[in-house]
Amino acid sequence: MGALKAISLLALIASFALTASQAQTASKPSAPAPTPAQSFVPVPASAPEQPIPFSHKQHAGKLQLPCEFCHTPSRSGETVAIPQAAACMQCHQTMATNNPGVQKLAAYAKANATIPWVRVYELPSFVTFSHKVHMGHGSTCQECHGEVAQRDRIYKEADISMAGCMNCHRTKKASLDCNACHTLDQ
Ligand code: HEC
Ligand code: HEC
Ligand code: HEC
Ligand code: HEC
Ligand code: HEC
Repeated sequence: MGALKAISLLALIASFALTASQAQTASKPSAPAPTPAQSFVPVPASAPEQPIPFSHKQHAGKLQLPCEFCHTPSRSGETVAIPQAAACMQCHQTMATNNPGVQKLAAYAKANATIPWVRVYELPSFVTFSHKVHMGHGSTCQECHGEVAQRDRIYKEADISMAGCMNCHRTKKASLDCNACHTLDQ
């Protein structure tokens, strides 16, 4: 049961975050650890208000769109894209056109304007991080971002503080060397 495993891992990360949560992270102390019996996890106050009420539960869950359908890796693979209106309009030119959120989306598309999505997971610039390095070693999106496909709104439910990185690096025998993640000696 992959799902069960992922959930217990999440619980582990969440309980770890309680002890290791850092003062400067904007998120509230971590959400109660989900148990497999819970089918609904309330959105904590730390989920930012997005310009369009986009739901991963609808798109990645119900419709089962693969993450990469919207989050295309950059050429270097270090970052992944956050989609803009043109990607959404492939469907919403004709689908759910009466929905107020979709109408807002269509207005962005028509004006050729950038949707100002509010970032949820973001590291300070002095940290080196690459998606490609991690995906190449069998990490899953869920390990670092939680059960995204079950969420209506994204919040920072997994710990990407230094302690969070170190915890997994210790478990998976990856580098704990300061210089792996920082260029401290400039
Ligand atoms: C593969 C097709 C597809 C793509 C691509 C797609 N959507 Fe949707 N979207 C749907 C379907 C299907 C629904 C459900 C419509 C319904 O319930 O009537 C939906 C519903 C919605 C709703 C209505 C609210 C809700 O949850 O019911 C919003 C808002 C929305 N999508 C925004 C977006 C945005 C923003 C993007 C791009 C980031 C996007 N969609 C990409 C198919 C798509
Ligand atoms: C239909 C397009 C679509 C699909 C499919 C999709 N996403 Fe997203 N994703 C978005 C949009 C739009 C945002 C920005 C709005 C938000 O945060 O909800 C986003 C935001 C995110 C963020 C927060 C990024 C940040 O730092 O602000 C994460 C993490 C994420 N998605 C992971 C995933 C994962 C994992 C999957 C697959 C299970 C997935 N997404 C599938 C469109 C999509
Ligand atoms: C090892 C942990 C880890 C894994 C695995 C991971 N992410 Fe991330 N993700 C992060 C971190 C850390 C950030 C913040 C990066 C930054 O700000 O430089 C991030 C940022 C993002 C963003 C915002 C855009 C960006 O690139 O900064 C999206 C979208 C996202 N991740 C989606 C995904 C998807 C989809 C997957 C699976 C294909 C995934 N992530 C796998 C840790 C991870
Ligand atoms: C889910 C587990 C996991 C998490 C969480 C995680 N990492 Fe990693 N990381 C790995 C693994 C596994 C490797 C690959 C080790 C190898 O190449 O032998 C790795 C490799 C790296 C590397 C390359 C190291 C080298 O020797 O070149 C960097 C840099 C890195 N991670 C940064 C981060 C940062 C920053 C964070 C937190 C924001 C983070 N990682 C969170 C598992 C993780
Ligand atoms: C696996 C990746 C990783 C390794 C290894 C690592 N760090 Fe960090 N470090 C981070 C991340 C991620 C942050 C940013 C935390 C945040 O934004 O909450 C950080 C933040 C910091 C900060 C700023 C602290 C703060 O509160 O803002 C310092 C100083 C620092 N690290 C020093 C070190 C030293 C010294 C080492 C070696 C013992 C080290 N780091 C090893 C990932 C790492």
